[in-house]
Amino acid sequence: MTMSVDYHIPVLIERVAQGLRIEQIRHVWDGTLGDGGYSLFFLKNSATIRVVGIDLDRDAIKRAEMRLKRYADRFQAVEGNFSDIDAVAVQLGISEADAIVVDLGISRLQVSDPDKGFMFSKPGPLMMRMGGARSIDAKTIVNEWDESDLARLIREYGEERHARRIARAIVWARSNDPLTTTDQLAQVIRRTIPSDRAVKSLARVFQAIRIAVNDELENLRSFLPKALELLAPGGRLAVVSYHSLEDRICKEFFTSQIRPCTCPPELPICICGRQPTIRWVERLARPSAEEVLNNPNARSAKLRIIEKI
Ligand SMILES: C[S@@+](CC[C@H](N)C(=O)[O-])C[C@H]1O[C@@H](n2cnc3c(N)ncnc32)[C@H](O)[C@@H]1O
Repeated sequence: MTMSVDYHIPVLIERVAQGLRIEQIRHVWDGTLGDGGYSLFFLKNSATIRVVGIDLDRDAIKRAEMRLKRYADRFQAVEGNFSDIDAVAVQLGISEADAIVVDLGISRLQVSDPDKGFMFSKPGPLMMRMGGARSIDAKTIVNEWDESDLARLIREYGEERHARRIARAIVWARSNDPLTTTDQLAQVIRRTIPSDRAVKSLARVFQAIRIAVNDELENLRSFLPKALELLAPGGRLAVVSYHSLEDRICKEFFTSQIRPCTCPPELPICICGRQPTIRWVERLARPSAEEVLNNPNARSAKLRIIEKI
């Protein structure tokens, strides 16, 4: 009897594949392999495409390798950080890519694994590490950061307006015993925020801590210029993001490459000579109402695609 696995449902997959021109290209990088949903679609829809998948999470790598084993001659998985895409390319002897995609955040199977500690609705250790040899985990942040740093984290990365109140409650709660599990942290938040708003606050606080533990914004900042460098001229990069902080980083980076001129606006002509390095393919795409209905995890997704000139 074969066990069916409840894989992550790929978001905006057809728009991504179409925007990257999957049927015409040879080499694509899936920088956030996850359960291999994107990679599988690419491999199925082109008989010649080669895919390199990167993921921080060793469990995700193993799952995707199993799922894609029939394509082993055209698929390679690498455990690593997409912010090291340049080093991974050197290691694999690849000098150019036709297309690169990252689908940010965490996968359904990561969220629902209580041992990884991403879930506020089930008890688990306060971890929230996607993978890799990170020194910090959620327990360290929750128990060792001072109140003002916690409040800033929750406000900036979680966009939670009760950040100060929640930070104060965490500091008070940990003064007796350290908080070591997701349900202990969740209880503190539930005691602090009125019940009708508690779930949203829980999601925001857990998101904020996860972003910090995994250095998600810094990884994205460091990845974008490296991805552009690796792309061949005419190559395309797609980013699917799920919150405004990630999307802002992409938008600002892409805009700086599309309009790189640094001349003062009062100058009638450009004298700095900086030329655009990319152009928009998809300025902003959102999932349809139908996709969100079938996959509520897609609701906040934003897709941007650029082409290297
Ligand atoms: C939303 S899931 C991707 C799902 C995938 N598109 C699919 O259809 O199965 C995001 C994945 O990216 C991985 N990830 C997040 N940040 C990463 C990083 N900086 N480097 C490599 N992998 C990362 C996570 O571990 C997770 O498996």
